[in-house]
Amino acid sequence: MFAVVLVGGFGTRLRPLTNDIPKPLLPLGQRTILECLMSQLSRGGVTDAVLALGFKPEPFLAAFPDARCAGVRLHYAIESSPLDTAGAIGFAARSVGLHEKTETFVVANGDIVTDLSIAALIAQHRANLRLGALATIHLTPVDDPSQYGVVQFDSLLPTGGKVSGFVEKPAPGTVSSRHVNAGTYVFESAVLRRLPGDAPLSVERVTFPALATAGELFAYPTDDYWLDAGRPDTYVRGNVDLINGVRSERDVAIHATARIDATAEVSNSVVGAGASIAAGAQVVDSVIFPNATIGARARVRSSAVLGTVAADAEVRDALVGAGGHQ
Ligand code: GTP
Repeated sequence: MFAVVLVGGFGTRLRPLTNDIPKPLLPLGQRTILECLMSQLSRGGVTDAVLALGFKPEPFLAAFPDARCAGVRLHYAIESSPLDTAGAIGFAARSVGLHEKTETFVVANGDIVTDLSIAALIAQHRANLRLGALATIHLTPVDDPSQYGVVQFDSLLPTGGKVSGFVEKPAPGTVSSRHVNAGTYVFESAVLRRLPGDAPLSVERVTFPALATAGELFAYPTDDYWLDAGRPDTYVRGNVDLINGVRSERDVAIHATARIDATAEVSNSVVGAGASIAAGAQVVDSVIFPNATIGARARVRSSAVLGTVAADAEVRDALVGAGGHQ
């Protein structure tokens, strides 16, 4: 089975980290966000993934020189200008000929971290086919839905039901549902008739509302672990959650090749390969990237560090890029 994986966004909210590394290639535990997603897709039966690329395609090509990731064969669709989500899906799916076939495929946002079973989502989509489904969308409940695409659906079925309304980023208090678009979908290739892939188009603002009106969009709500890793706080939390047993999978906190002085204190943090933490430094609830350096007596809390934090510096709730922090 194919998956189209959206990885072409600018990742502006994670600057300066994303000045150097595209968001899906940022660390998540000891792997990258994209490697974790590919493992999950592979477990769900995906054999081939088309990376829908735009901004900064080169790091992806360099990261996977044999065009394989977690056992999944990679294909690349590079947009010459940003096509937005639906434009990107249409362009990428066409690049591997999905529009000429009758086929089911998965679509995933490249910055979602979740314990969703892709196999279960596909199975539910297949069950929805006899009810006229062309697409099934994973939903997750959130406390404040105003930052997301809110989905109203017929909840008579325990496994979801037909979507009756799709409202992208509604004003607070204007919708009754707490279920939002969780960024993983299963599409029939017939949906591609709505996705020409030759101009910018939004799946959230145009395609899903149109499919909902046609009665062809179905919901798959779950309360699996779910996080949109695109914000500084959620990016750091996604890492910390992976090492402290909140998830169905777990990664090691400190890479075997990291150098941590015996007098440094490191707690609830991910420390990548080749990183170094000097004497007396304190690192709490943070992500220290591969080869990053934390100087002597520096204090780092609730932050992600790609470059160097100088000796005696203090960093809190921050993203430190390649330029470092004095
Ligand atoms: P911000 O700039 O911080 O909002 O991040 P982003 O650019 O990643 O945007 P957002 O999180 O809204 O995007 C959701 C998903 O769609 C991400 O996986 C993006 O990589 C992807 N995406 C957004 N726009 C495009 C686009 O024009 N082309 C492609 N290929 N992917 C896109």
